[in-house]
Amino acid sequence: KTPIRVALLGCGTVGGAVAQKLTGNAAELAARVGRPIELVGIAVRRAGRDRSELGLDPALFTTDAEGLVTRADIVVEVIGGIDPARGLILRAMEHGASVVTANKALLAEDGPTLYAAADAAGVDLYYEAAVAGAIPILRPIHESLAGDDVRRVIGIVNGTTNFVLDAMDTTGAGFGETVERAQALGYAEADPTADVEGFDAAAKAAILASLAFHTRVSSADVYREGITDVTASDIRAAREMGCVVKLLAICERTSDDGGTEGISVRVHPAMIPRTHPLAAVREAYNAVFVGADAAGELMFYGQGAGGDPTASAVLGDVVAVARHHVSGGRGPGEIAYADLPVLPMGSA
Ligand code: NDP
Ligand code: HSE
Repeated sequence: KTPIRVALLGCGTVGGAVAQKLTGNAAELAARVGRPIELVGIAVRRAGRDRSELGLDPALFTTDAEGLVTRADIVVEVIGGIDPARGLILRAMEHGASVVTANKALLAEDGPTLYAAADAAGVDLYYEAAVAGAIPILRPIHESLAGDDVRRVIGIVNGTTNFVLDAMDTTGAGFGETVERAQALGYAEADPTADVEGFDAAAKAAILASLAFHTRVSSADVYREGITDVTASDIRAAREMGCVVKLLAICERTSDDGGTEGISVRVHPAMIPRTHPLAAVREAYNAVFVGADAAGELMFYGQGAGGDPTASAVLGDVVAVARHHVSGGRGPGEIAYADLPVLPMGSA
């Protein structure tokens, strides 16, 4: 059977784990899809870097990402950032490739452009790994709850900041040293400012709100406070009150004083009673509560960052998209029909 050709853009924390699992589990993946999946190339920035610990064929590596995307059925983008990731994704789609990406920054900045390009090319755009690492949260919201009315999505969606706040609470460790540990463990973004200043969680909140409320929310719409102003004495004070400090992403349907229906999307540190389920979310784990009219309360919990957990979500998307290649089908595109204003903080 003709293999489904996969091109990987990026071979860092996430890409390295994806490449190893794609090649190491090739037989199982082929059985699940019904056709072989062949990794045809891996684009990186630094050609000369020693990657022998990954055990991959050195001939797979290239710095010609633009060329690589034209010879694939599925392109997996795990470079991160806006450019060149956006241009490479658009080029891949123009050449008929479906795209799987973990790039929340790009999706939250310019998701509608990516969806429009996917529609124009008749290809898939999947990005389960972009929010909450291993936790299946986007497809449940986008697909499983598509017949319900989601009212709120609240959670811990950044592993690095949860790791830092947890360490400050439990061991009294300092801010800087725990950020460095989160970087070494592969949880933090290339620039950890995105984590500690709340930009990463704000991008995830924008994606969650867009899918949950069938509207368009970008990172710029999200009220954002990070954890850089949280001090050891804040953590101690919270503990004395029987609370922990967590960085929360909160997306909810609401209305303002004038009765205008809209949504509120915000990211900020919050004190949570130690008895609350979110207080039990330790280290780089994430948890997301979803409240919907008919379903009631749902809770999703798991590893929110790191190579293997994120690779699990990426590979789930690769299998879903590969199955569409086999069946001739396509996953859901953007379902943004509602035009709900994002209401400013302080609205009723
Ligand atoms: P890394 O910084 O570890 O890896 C980035 C990779 O992209 C490297 O292999 C790098 O090449 C390559 N790269 C960078 N620029 C280019 C370029 N211009 N052309 C070709 N390749 C390039 O990032 P992560 O693996 O941590 O993250 C990747 C993506 O996944 C990001 O969007 C991130 O937000 C997302 N993500 C990360 C998670 C995590 O826990 N780390 C979890 C969920 C999502 P080289 O190796 O040569 O430097
Ligand atoms: N830097 C992100 C985090 C990676 O710490 O949650 C997972 O998206």
